Amino acid sequence: MALSNIRLEVMNTVEKSVQGFIDKYLIPVEEIWQPTDLLPNLQQEEGFEQVHQIREEAKELGYDFWVVLVADMVTEEALPTYESWLMDMEGVEQHGKSRGEQNSWAKWVRHWTGEENRHGDTLNKYLYLSGRVNMKEIEKTTQHLINDGFDIGTGRDPYRNFVYTSFQELATNISHKRVGQLAKKKGNKMLAKMCNIIAGDEMRHYMAYREFVKTIFEHDPSEMMLAFQDMMKKKIVMPAQFIRESGQGIAEAFENFSNAAQRLGVYTTHDYIDILKKLNAYWEIDKMRELSDDAEKARDYLMALPDRMTRIAERIAVPQDSHKFKWVEANGMV
Ligand SMILES: [Fe+2]
Ligand SMILES: [Fe+2]
Repeated sequence: MALSNIRLEVMNTVEKSVQGFIDKYLIPVEEIWQPTDLLPNLQQEEGFEQVHQIREEAKELGYDFWVVLVADMVTEEALPTYESWLMDMEGVEQHGKSRGEQNSWAKWVRHWTGEENRHGDTLNKYLYLSGRVNMKEIEKTTQHLINDGFDIGTGRDPYRNFVYTSFQELATNISHKRVGQLAKKKGNKMLAKMCNIIAGDEMRHYMAYREFVKTIFEHDPSEMMLAFQDMMKKKIVMPAQFIRESGQGIAEAFENFSNAAQRLGVYTTHDYIDILKKLNAYWEIDKMRELSDDAEKARDYLMALPDRMTRIAERIAVPQDSHKFKWVEANGMV
């Protein structure tokens, strides 16, 4: 219990800085881009020409590409899972003390969710317009994924959750950016722009979450270190860990999606290791002193982990055969 009380104290202390983080890392509604800025405007005739352009350009993109884009979109669309999970963290209080007064952590979660919600919206509309995928199958996958929820190994602990979100925001930044680069290479300008702009949001979110962790390190270094170690020992799972196609059991589509992402080079084990290195560097793990004995061991474990993982990664081969997904077996697919 004592442990948990210190966490709560730290969360309450850092809460006073959260409005500043919101101002620094999030963008007000009136200023930020919206999905329609990047999509054809169907209130105008020329919007239909752009739809044709999207459909033409989409013909150049390969099978694995569509699988990865679909799964990335579905991952974004499972946002209700992430919002409710984060809202449930210790120290986040969604019921204001008085009318109009919000706990700043709850405000962060809401505003972060508001920004994230635009990602799934954008990609969903793009996929629909592309004509290359079976939307109904994708919609079923999204509904299944929301039903199935996730379990990222953090419990209600904010320290573990902020390690997870720091890691995962950078992972999504990398994967959206890479999908954008592949789209651009095939001359698909509109999609490339969408992916790049989404990747930009993910970068801001990453910068915010890593700052939360850095701030917690200042208040409670040993416990923060142990939480970081625990998350890396468990491995950072993907938010879409439970993804399935219609008719499948829970999580059955995940491995094939992950293999497609690795084959394309959109998100690989080496990216995972790079993210860990970046977090170690930003949080200056190697410089941490005055830790408990356990936390010192955790620090040394974390510093040694990237090299250890690299040795293992070199031995793993990614299967080369594409699994056939219902998502991309669309009517009229050539
Ligand atoms: Fe996102
Ligand atoms: Fe994100």
